[in-house]
Amino acid sequence: MSPNKSARTILAIDTSCDETSVAVVHGWEVWSNIVASQAELHKQYGGVFPTVAKMAHTENLPATVRAALRRAHLDWDAIDAIAVTQGPGLAPALEVGITYAQELAAEHHKPLIPINHIEGHIWSVMARPRPRQTPAAIPADQLPNIAWPVLGVVISGGHSEFWLITGPGQYQLLGKTIDDAAGEALDKVGRMLGLGYPAGPIMEEFARRGDASRYAFPLPMTTSGDYNLSFSGLKTFARNLLEKIGQTDALSQQDIFDLCASFQKAVFRHICHKLNKILLDHQDLGEVWLGGGVAANTTLRASIRQTLRSQRRHTTTNNSPILPLRVPPSKRLCGDNAAMIGLVAQWRPATATFDRQPNLSFSESQPAW
Ligand code: KG4
Ligand code: ZN
Repeated sequence: MSPNKSARTILAIDTSCDETSVAVVHGWEVWSNIVASQAELHKQYGGVFPTVAKMAHTENLPATVRAALRRAHLDWDAIDAIAVTQGPGLAPALEVGITYAQELAAEHHKPLIPINHIEGHIWSVMARPRPRQTPAAIPADQLPNIAWPVLGVVISGGHSEFWLITGPGQYQLLGKTIDDAAGEALDKVGRMLGLGYPAGPIMEEFARRGDASRYAFPLPMTTSGDYNLSFSGLKTFARNLLEKIGQTDALSQQDIFDLCASFQKAVFRHICHKLNKILLDHQDLGEVWLGGGVAANTTLRASIRQTLRSQRRHTTTNNSPILPLRVPPSKRLCGDNAAMIGLVAQWRPATATFDRQPNLSFSESQPAW
């Protein structure tokens, strides 16, 4: 936020996919962040079923809004504005959140602010808890010192993107997946292995018990010369491998652990390979921010930290510092949640009319604060 704007208290709603989430944020402080997951409902389909998501959002939203206000110990009088995810996301799911936010804004006479979901993932690293008794070390309306430019890495179930951020609201897309997102690939291969949905967290668990060097996966797009990602080749490699193993033997539990470890390693190696290329070409970067559901994965975080450490050796001075990595302060803030939407809304203007935008992009500069 700008020095001349004080923190606002915002009720934020995100219904972009399969989590119904409502949060109350005050400046950069998260006062409540309720996430009603529909994962159980979608398990039987092995992925998110849009009509089911729409029905569940409609059913869950009123109670989730009440719970978010209750957890923040506030009533509507204390809310300055309502923020809602406009896109990207599943069209029927987005529609439920936007329609309900519009109804609430009219009923309680609040301004309404549409927010980009990916921008929320990027800024989720700045979230901080509500201070208990003592005043916060940093006031609610102030950011910590940020060393611009920042590299924003968003790795989720729907997106895998690298963003160059030169200041608040100033974004340039450096690269993105040309097919599946990383989380989607983890979920699809996890489904082949019978891990359930979403498979990402289970694969992380299984990978800990597996040998990541047992199955040698290829490294995709090494000669593409760009910063784009592609996971569909790794997914096909996994399918072919499974078929080959299945021809001779039944998969043992250890085989599954080893496949999880090897596949996860291949996905993260690919991300880190492209990250390394970006770091080499952008020596002026000051920080790296990691957000999105897959950012909860400790092996991914460790691989990125390792890449940042090894990069130091390539720079001209041997004692140049390692780029700091910021991650969301809790796992709940990695996956889809409304708090991250409220954080971005702090500096965005309200708009009276807008529609859902399932393919919303924000590569153009946004109105900053
Ligand atoms: O950000 P998110 O909640 O939703 C989207 O915007 O897509 O990300 C969900 C994705 C799913 O693919 C899920 O399997 C993955 O994040 N995920 C993980 C972990 N936790 C969630 N992947 C790997 N390791 C985890 N611990
Ligand atoms: Zn998301």
